[in-house]
Amino acid sequence: MAISVFDTFFEKFIKTTRGSDLEPFQDELAASLESHFFSKRHGRKTEWDDALATFPTLEPKHFDLGQDLIQIGENSDLTISTEDFKAKLKNFMPWRKGPYELFGTNINTEWRSDWKWQRIVPHISSLQDKQVLDIGCGNGYHLFRMLASGAKLALGIDPTLLFFYQFQLINRFLPDLPIHLLPLRGEHLPAFGSFDTVFSLGVLYHRRNPIDHLTELLGFLNSGGEVVLETLIVDGDANTVLVPEDRYAKMSNVWFLPSPDALEIWMSRAGFKHVRVVDINQTSIEEQRATEWMTFHSLADFLDPLDSNQTFEGYPAPKRALVIAQKP
Ligand SMILES: C[S@@+](CC[C@H](N)C(=O)[O-])C[C@H]1O[C@@H](n2cnc3c(N)ncnc32)[C@H](O)[C@@H]1O
Repeated sequence: MAISVFDTFFEKFIKTTRGSDLEPFQDELAASLESHFFSKRHGRKTEWDDALATFPTLEPKHFDLGQDLIQIGENSDLTISTEDFKAKLKNFMPWRKGPYELFGTNINTEWRSDWKWQRIVPHISSLQDKQVLDIGCGNGYHLFRMLASGAKLALGIDPTLLFFYQFQLINRFLPDLPIHLLPLRGEHLPAFGSFDTVFSLGVLYHRRNPIDHLTELLGFLNSGGEVVLETLIVDGDANTVLVPEDRYAKMSNVWFLPSPDALEIWMSRAGFKHVRVVDINQTSIEEQRATEWMTFHSLADFLDPLDSNQTFEGYPAPKRALVIAQKP
């Protein structure tokens, strides 16, 4: 039986964060992982552990986490055939966030997550030597970009097990770096009060109580720290908030879509200062689309076939605002 990454990832976290601001929270995080992760049944855990164990040990001659296409190794570093390697990567489909190139194989993910990063970078404070937290980090694409931007610690959390495995898979080809993904939800974390920058990208609309989410983000930051929040919005005045009757763009877990002005009010009421919307962007079918690596329905299938400015259900098509604010 394969040795599970389950049994080892938290040890690395404990070792690397010893002596850091996170050390006082290690016991609390261990307890959270025990009640929300280790004690739960995970349907495909054994399958993914076994799939992970079939990868050979590979030593990349170089890696570059700072480019839009995150690159690790080259084809000549492979000790198995390219076809074999690609087939092994495909055991971890769907690949939603990226793009990555692993040992010459391009993983053309559903999302161009690099486009989101390009919209964020011009507006945020430098990440050099900062401790950063990414809530709902997916497989860690943006975490790698944060680390490459100089962050001294990049911690991500995401409850989706497949993304946890994709992150572990990518990391097995890298040296030990100060980057971690804990398989938890934002609401399972302590109020660290020690992060310089906290990212919440594409998470707020999944929360039944968005103000709780904002309050949690505030609690993760140190005084003067920066929050970088991206969420679905609708056009309208300060009193406009859309709560879909049922599904939104075929997603069943979408709750609150405020106008940009309403979002600013929520954030101010949650305790943030200098709240500003710095970017608004309607998601295109070039940014989110089905590919060889994510073969299910994607944005084009979620829109009205006769009007791409409307969702399948007749709501305004997905538009996202990027908001930056500070903790006083
Ligand atoms: C739309 S994706 C966004 C991923 C990534 N942040 C990005 O912007 O590309 C939302 C992610 O949030 C995660 N998520 C959902 N509810 C969450 C919660 N309560 N706490 C933390 N993450 C959550 C999901 O597993 C998913 O990976």
